[in-house]
Amino acid sequence: MPKIVVFAGSVRAGSINEKLAAAAAVALGAAGAEVAHISLKDYPLPLYDADLQAREGVPGAADRLVDLFLGAEGVFVASPEYNASFSPLLKNTFDWMSRVNREGLPPLPAFKKRVFALGAVSNGAMGGYRGLTQLRTMMELGLGALVLPDMAAVGNSAEAFDAGGRLANPRTAAFFDTVIAKLLDHAGRLA
Ligand SMILES: Cc1cc2nc3c(=O)[nH]c(=O)nc-3n(C[C@H](O)[C@H](O)[C@H](O)COP(=O)(O)O)c2cc1C
Repeated sequence: MPKIVVFAGSVRAGSINEKLAAAAAVALGAAGAEVAHISLKDYPLPLYDADLQAREGVPGAADRLVDLFLGAEGVFVASPEYNASFSPLLKNTFDWMSRVNREGLPPLPAFKKRVFALGAVSNGAMGGYRGLTQLRTMMELGLGALVLPDMAAVGNSAEAFDAGGRLANPRTAAFFDTVIAKLLDHAGRLA
């Protein structure tokens, strides 16, 4: 079974996207995947600054994240929507990771030869979908990542999850299950 990294693009206490990441980790684990559910809180990175990189190199946290991705066939990202885009935490994290090279591997090694699935939760009716389109563009065009076409956008966050952390709306839950199944299927082919 494939290894899948799961995380949210928010480290806020009570993050609704962390709830989606947790639901993804549970679903992937139940399907037999080896899940690494991480928090970006454990990978603190300064705001990207080329002078800082020239002076001190890439921070260890970015290196550790790249290693984590290299050890997995799939990644699920739960991305908050900020002003119709994705969170600066995600942008900064991926920007630092994009500066990491590995001998013998092509550029942007963390983003190649694995598959990414995206999800979002927001208060609005569109469920962070606008932010996901921006994240997809950055990942595909900037990082050369393979991103699944299906994206799990979950709106009306206040009622989105039941007490057990599952998606409450049956249609949304079914769509989320499809995203998880496709992620597993694609990642399984790469394992
Ligand atoms: C700077 C900022 C911009 C936001 N812009 C949007 C937005 O465009 N659309 C939306 O649905 N929610 C927006 N929100 C609300 C967030 O979706 C909400 O705060 C959400 O809880 C953040 O995700 P988290 O709980 O995982 O941290 C914005 C929040 C902030 C702080």
